[in-house]
Amino acid sequence: MLVLGVESSCDETGVALYDSAHGLLAHALYSQIAMHADYGGVVPELASRDHIRRVLPLTRQVLAESGRTLADLGGVAYTQGPGLAGALLVGAGMARALAYALGIPAVGVHHLEGHLLSPLISDTPPEFPFVALLVSGGHTQLMLVSGVGRYTLLGETLDDAAGEAFDKTAQLLGLGYPGGPALSKLAATGDADRFKLPRPMLNSGDFDFSFSGLKTAVLTLVRKQGLAQAADIAAAFQAAAVEVLVSKSLAACQHSGATRLVVAGGVGANAQLRERLTREAAARGIEVFYPRLEFCTDNGAMIAYAGAQRLAHANRDLTFAVKPRWELATLDAV
Ligand code: KG4
Ligand code: ZN
Repeated sequence: MLVLGVESSCDETGVALYDSAHGLLAHALYSQIAMHADYGGVVPELASRDHIRRVLPLTRQVLAESGRTLADLGGVAYTQGPGLAGALLVGAGMARALAYALGIPAVGVHHLEGHLLSPLISDTPPEFPFVALLVSGGHTQLMLVSGVGRYTLLGETLDDAAGEAFDKTAQLLGLGYPGGPALSKLAATGDADRFKLPRPMLNSGDFDFSFSGLKTAVLTLVRKQGLAQAADIAAAFQAAAVEVLVSKSLAACQHSGATRLVVAGGVGANAQLRERLTREAAARGIEVFYPRLEFCTDNGAMIAYAGAQRLAHANRDLTFAVKPRWELATLDAV
């Protein structure tokens, strides 16, 4: 089945075509980063308006690139949430309208499921089960993944997400938005051993995280040392964040007996995280899988892929469920 995937939950419009028989055919992305940069963060109303401008040209682009037409589509997948309401509505409205006009099914995809399954868009995908470290701008979770839709939460952040910590630290160091890539570039020129920052919850004995204290420690350091030391401070922050992420991920694998670890979400693009995780996991007999670099951050391919899995399952599933207990108040409004 040929599935069109549409991602519009935040500041990137992503559109892709995934074919269940032939894999990913085409994907296109428009990033609004330059537009939001003047404001130091995402402006929701501007994001929504820009998604409207981009979504149809990107759809035409992926169809043209793969030599397909709308008539070839078997389904449409879109990000249903979580995300910015207005931005989500653009993708959802376009996808639902298109599916209705073509008489094909539409499916709303959970944005994080998209990230979680993105390493499976590969010629050598990991087999189930695996532990997934989901590190995006809004979420930090360790998940045991036994199949599509079979997710057990092992631990998560109690406050800031990992990407949020990178972004806020970058802001403290005067690096602008989005902070993660800029911070890791600066950190590469710094000395990670000059300043020692805390490793929050490293030995808490569970799989939860906390990053807000680390951010406060950076603030204190910046006040004391000044921005002239920004590279060393960035390196110290990155070393602390990476150590906690690596240590907890490997502990989660050990705890669940998993020999495969998947890293997903924007922070998964971080070179130091990749390098340390791969090295330390190998020493424990754990194989680490990463999405293609371009699929670490938001994209349409992961939504098309997750949607294709869900649509394939829905089509094959000939069972039906009755609801012996069914609260009237839980019905969807029409
Ligand atoms: O997954 P994503 O594109 O969006 C969300 O769903 O949140 O992740 C974006 C986050 C941002 O916080 C960004 O700063 C971070 O991922 N990020 C990085 C890197 N590239 C993106 N953080 C650290 N190092 C990077 N190389
Ligand atoms: Zn995301």
